[in-house]
Amino acid sequence: MVCVNSSCPSAFEGSSAERLKPIVIYQYKLNCVAATLPQAVLFPPLTSSLDSITEMTVSEISRGKFITLEGIDGAGKSTQLNRVASLVRSWGKTVVVTREPGGTPLGERLRELLLDKRETMHAETEALLMFAARREHLDKVIVPALDQGNWVICDRFTDASFAYQGGGRGLPIQKLMELEQWVQGQFQPDLTLYFDVTVKLGGQRTHGIKKVDRFEQEEDEFFRKVRNGYLERADRFPERIVVVDASRSLEEVNKLVEELIILHCK
Ligand code: TYD
Repeated sequence: MVCVNSSCPSAFEGSSAERLKPIVIYQYKLNCVAATLPQAVLFPPLTSSLDSITEMTVSEISRGKFITLEGIDGAGKSTQLNRVASLVRSWGKTVVVTREPGGTPLGERLRELLLDKRETMHAETEALLMFAARREHLDKVIVPALDQGNWVICDRFTDASFAYQGGGRGLPIQKLMELEQWVQGQFQPDLTLYFDVTVKLGGQRTHGIKKVDRFEQEEDEFFRKVRNGYLERADRFPERIVVVDASRSLEEVNKLVEELIILHCK
């Protein structure tokens, strides 16, 4: 019998950092704990002998999908977040909607600091706090939800750090890659939708609507660099990041997003 439920601690030996790596379960280990588990968390029936150690990854068995949405303000990301969640729920999936920075009690406190325009901080401090919040988010929310077979839809993730702290603030990409490796290893979203608008159009759409936070008070030039940061990232990972032309009408973007989610995830 094979346990794929993260509430079964014996199946996930090692530190929580270990759990962010592709999780390899050896059947011989699992058989040691299987006898004590309720039937609901046990499947499929063991077909090979106890002596033959078969590697299985959680992703092969039951892992949910991790979808992230990205874009500068005014790109329409938040509207699409709710639509994507509704679509996936209509397939009978349990969906966790979350955001970065934030998503955990500690992460939300870090978010307050990061967005507070009375704060001044070094660009590296900003990057470190973003990744600190992310580490917590992965450990407490994202990975456990995916392990339980739930879907996670996240308003921004690591691509935002490359766009804002890399592109916008000009931090070396190499440093961000080191943080990325440290915090999440090879873990990446299954699909990232990047909603692309020009800074001018984004500004027109949000003008007068939102209260201005520490990032939103930046000049247009900062957001042009952020946008370039996102586009560079999309060029680099075309198999994962889809650029959605968010200057199109809402109906067109809605339709495109639905098609993309079905194509990549269903
Ligand atoms: P945002 O997602 O725009 O929230 P809201 O729609 O409520 O304003 O705010 C988060 C801000 O944090 C946004 O300006 C981008 C920034 N950010 C980074 O600079 N780096 C990151 O890694 C993340 C996740 C966000």
